[in-house]
Amino acid sequence: MKIAIPKERRVGELRVAASPETVKRFVGLGADVVIEAGAGDGAAVPDDAFATVGATIVPTYEEAVADADVVLKIQRPLMPGEDKVDELAPLKSGAALIGSLTPYDNPDDLKAYADKGILAFAMELMPRITRAQAMDILSSQSNLAGYRGVIEGAIEFGRAFPMMMTAAGTVPPARALVMGAGVAGLQAIATARRLGAIVSATDVRPAAKEQVESLGATFVAVEDEEFKQAETAAGYAKEMSDAYKEKQAKLIAETITKQDIVVCTALIPGRPAPTLIDETMVKSMKPGAVIVDLAAERGGNCTLTKPGKVTIKHGAKIVGHVNVASRLAAGSSPLFAKNLLNFLTPMIDQDTKALKFDWEDETVSGTLLTRDGKVVHPQFAATDDAAPDKVEEKAAEDKAADDKASDEPAADAPDASKAN
Ligand code: NAI
Repeated sequence: MKIAIPKERRVGELRVAASPETVKRFVGLGADVVIEAGAGDGAAVPDDAFATVGATIVPTYEEAVADADVVLKIQRPLMPGEDKVDELAPLKSGAALIGSLTPYDNPDDLKAYADKGILAFAMELMPRITRAQAMDILSSQSNLAGYRGVIEGAIEFGRAFPMMMTAAGTVPPARALVMGAGVAGLQAIATARRLGAIVSATDVRPAAKEQVESLGATFVAVEDEEFKQAETAAGYAKEMSDAYKEKQAKLIAETITKQDIVVCTALIPGRPAPTLIDETMVKSMKPGAVIVDLAAERGGNCTLTKPGKVTIKHGAKIVGHVNVASRLAAGSSPLFAKNLLNFLTPMIDQDTKALKFDWEDETVSGTLLTRDGKVVHPQFAATDDAAPDKVEEKAAEDKAADDKASDEPAADAPDASKAN
């Protein structure tokens, strides 16, 4: 069985989908691992580090993926017409393509994967069950992005985070508000606290309140009846009603005037990021305040965010970096690579050393987009099963079964205590 790890070619992508540790493990499982030369350059992994643990280094993309049974990628392949390179064409029919394939944003790709006859696995669709935590790329990458978001904010902020007593006077502590207390938000809270800021946070999921408070931050939210129901069976936020959004906006408007740093991380899977900060709110902020919008890639939580840019509006700096995990590629790549290793290992037959998929396994069925020339994922296949209520029902069933099967959190469970 051949596993290929090509160099990422999308603009701004520095990560690599393997680490020396994961390559060593794949070789130990009997796989031939082939890496395109320079694949690890952006993540501080020289070719030699891969070669030492048993990988073969080849000079081109085509050589790396030729005849590969598995192609591990960070980002979806460049498609015909997108660039000079067509990364899909050289894949063999029947190959498994595994990575962050962003199917919500690129539905047309799915037909191309199906036509090519590949097994395309979108890792961001990994079900949120205990067993799959070690395979969850959204968690591992958001965790580091949350940390980095605060660091980016600290760099742009013209003052200090901690309170400091000096002979020349006292420096007051910075006030930071984290909007969205999921994986990235909890890490942002922990990081801002470590730097000495006074931190508050907001979220629409009731479960977030306890996690925020356990990290020593204040929870700011409209806690009405709708709030109490605002979590899907899959553990994600729901789209809130207009009435709730209005109440939430009022509360945030009052809170935001007192903040020095606002880190935005609020997301709803498959939808544009919710708008939480409008121009009036930006105008009301303190001069020199900084907004770090980690939701920039999905449109931003602030209406003034320019994705990919740092701008100044009404005296506030708005940081709109995209693909923040790539800004610490040497740290985020090994985690992404480990997620892929944890996903793929159970599919490698110990006796034959070949791939053997358990199509019933929910980590497989939950992420598999295409098989046998068809789009098979219930959220994207044009069948009755794709109806949103059916998908939600299925998620609830999976979660209930999982809760029953295991009360033990996995080693890297993204709970609040781990974020601190
Ligand atoms: P996410 O990246 O989709 O969203 C980030 C945060 O934004 C969420 O906490 C969401 O509730 C919040 N949000 C959405 N709309 C908002 C609004 N209008 N105002 C304020 N906040 C808003 O979510 P993430 O971080 O990927 O995870 C969500 C939950 O899933 C967390 O509780 C996490 O612990 C859990 N989780 C479970 C896993 C597992 O069991 N395998 C793996 C990873 C996360």
